[in-house]
Amino acid sequence: MPELILGIETSCDETAAAVVADGHDVRSSVVSSQIDIHARYGGVVPEVASRAHVEMMVPVVAQAMVEAGVEPGDLTAVASTVGPGLIGSLLIGVSTAKSLALVWDRPFVAVNHLEAHLYSAFLEDQDLELPLITLLVSGGHTMLVLMEGHGQYRLLGQTLDDAAGEAYDKVARYLGLGYPGGPAIDALAAEGDPQAIAFPRGMKNDGYDFSFSGLKTSVVNHVRKNPDVDTADVAASFQEAVVDVLITKARRAMAETGARGLCLAGGVAANSSLRQRALDVAAEDGLKAFIPSRSMCTDNAAMVAAAGFHRFGSDGPAALDHGANSSLRLPTLT
Ligand code: KG4
Ligand code: ZN
Repeated sequence: MPELILGIETSCDETAAAVVADGHDVRSSVVSSQIDIHARYGGVVPEVASRAHVEMMVPVVAQAMVEAGVEPGDLTAVASTVGPGLIGSLLIGVSTAKSLALVWDRPFVAVNHLEAHLYSAFLEDQDLELPLITLLVSGGHTMLVLMEGHGQYRLLGQTLDDAAGEAYDKVARYLGLGYPGGPAIDALAAEGDPQAIAFPRGMKNDGYDFSFSGLKTSVVNHVRKNPDVDTADVAASFQEAVVDVLITKARRAMAETGARGLCLAGGVAANSSLRQRALDVAAEDGLKAFIPSRSMCTDNAAMVAAAGFHRFGSDGPAALDHGANSSLRLPTLT
């Protein structure tokens, strides 16, 4: 019998539920995005997000169960993201998952959102060989992680200021491209020249940490000084600088740790240039690139169910008085 996990994700502005068998076989994955609701404010408004989660949570869970064709009694466990994220949003998913676990008499599993992103590649590729370098790039995080085994992570570096997705969103807002900025810059960059403007590559050859706030400031200064500049060139040159730094460090990390491949994870992993460059460098270095489909890179509950499957196997169920933690860290080896 397959082990079926119901995953629930509400850490930011996506209300999501999914049923996954044995940690990789996606039976259903339902994502209700609030992008349209938040776009008019230019970013996620926490209180608005929480209220939208309350409205959508139960219908989204019901749809995930129906699409998967499973009954509550078929489930091995109910897993939910418990952090990091917006606290009001997290509480909706955690409370829902614990209530369902109690009523259905199933174990509850607490999932770290960052660990869930690391598992997105496992949903689509059964041949992942460890150790792997995972570049986790989202709206709130930019991390270079060495994955040695299930639940065995070493954090090699992270951003010292803005996350990569945050830089995309801020630059897009400045350029008047709307929210979320990542997809907008990605699309506009395709029409521009990535070599047009030599934006700075913060910390490119300096360790594994990242810094993107200087790049953002540099874009703003350049546009102020050159008001007639082609916005597509700005988008393409900005993207080139971000991807250059991310890929250079990931490549060095693979060489220095002896990793067998490169995984991309998080919303920014949906970026076309980053995806192409990851494939190119892995091929040049004789290594593998594991690039989840775009829908599995951005927030979803299938990755929560996958991580929940492995966490349940290693740690067993979590207590029903488990809370949510907005600043939860990735559990790492010391
Ligand atoms: O992982 P995610 O869905 O939510 C967080 O956990 O943060 O990531 C959202 C971030 C946003 O900053 C968004 O602008 C960025 O991912 N993003 C992209 C692209 N699609 C989404 N950034 C660059 N290129 C994209 N195609
Ligand atoms: Zn995320």
